[in-house]
Amino acid sequence: MLVTAISSPEELTVELLSRQYPRAAGSLLRASMVTSIDGMTSVAGRSGPLSGGSDRRIFHFLRAGASAVIVGARTVLAEGYRKDPSFTGDLAEYRNHCGLPETLRIVVASRSGGDPGPFPGFERIVLRPDTTRSRLLERLELEDPAVILCEGGPSLLHRLTQSRAVDEYCITLAFTLVGAGDAPLSPGSLVAPYPLAAASAIVTAEAAHLRLVPRSS
Ligand SMILES: NC(=O)c1ccc[n+]([C@@H]2O[C@H](COP(=O)([O-])OP(=O)(O)OC[C@H]3O[C@@H](n4cnc5c(N)ncnc54)[C@H](OP(=O)(O)O)[C@@H]3O)[C@@H](O)[C@H]2O)c1
Repeated sequence: MLVTAISSPEELTVELLSRQYPRAAGSLLRASMVTSIDGMTSVAGRSGPLSGGSDRRIFHFLRAGASAVIVGARTVLAEGYRKDPSFTGDLAEYRNHCGLPETLRIVVASRSGGDPGPFPGFERIVLRPDTTRSRLLERLELEDPAVILCEGGPSLLHRLTQSRAVDEYCITLAFTLVGAGDAPLSPGSLVAPYPLAAASAIVTAEAAHLRLVPRSS
């Protein structure tokens, strides 16, 4: 397992992050979320208070290496998502190096229909209960290999965990206690505990940025 300790977000170069979060030879469904020590993902409805400089850097790095982002409808509303984000500086170079288009495709998971629907301008997807990574690739018409990045929220991530679709959980554990919150990381029940193993970690004084994979894989 690769463990790196840093004292400032400026140390998170593209080179270092590429080692910590490598692009696999095949396709990947990555999930990216930040949680407090007591398992909450938002404070007063937003994730921002849990996220420091290193988390933001990793968030944007993971986006820069993604073919598409899938995100839950409530997160789009709560976090004020904008469509077609683009990148600057070393992240634009990294994205170009990965052979990805300048802007990032964002797909909203929502069952609310209608035209234009509640998310004008965004693509929308309805997930079947048995959604797997390969079915998602097909539905999004992405060519193998591709990286799909799930940015939450907890309900969407839980659904994908239930169908064992997630290859990597890129979880920032913020060293903060929130108390009773409104968005626990795992909001539903699982048939059985789902053990994960750390593939890599970046540790700062304020957070641990973990790349976790299902233990059976
Ligand atoms: N800390 C973090 O990293 C982080 C990340 C993301 C979000 N958050 C926080 O989490 C909260 C929002 O998360 P959440 O768990 O409430 O909601 P969410 O996962 O963002 O979205 C849930 C929505 O997904 C849609 N959905 C459910 N089943 C579906 C299906 N089968 N196919 C397609 N869409 C489906 C539904 O939308 P419709 O109702 O439109 O059908 C549902 O309302 C916010 O407070 C946000 O700040 C934190």
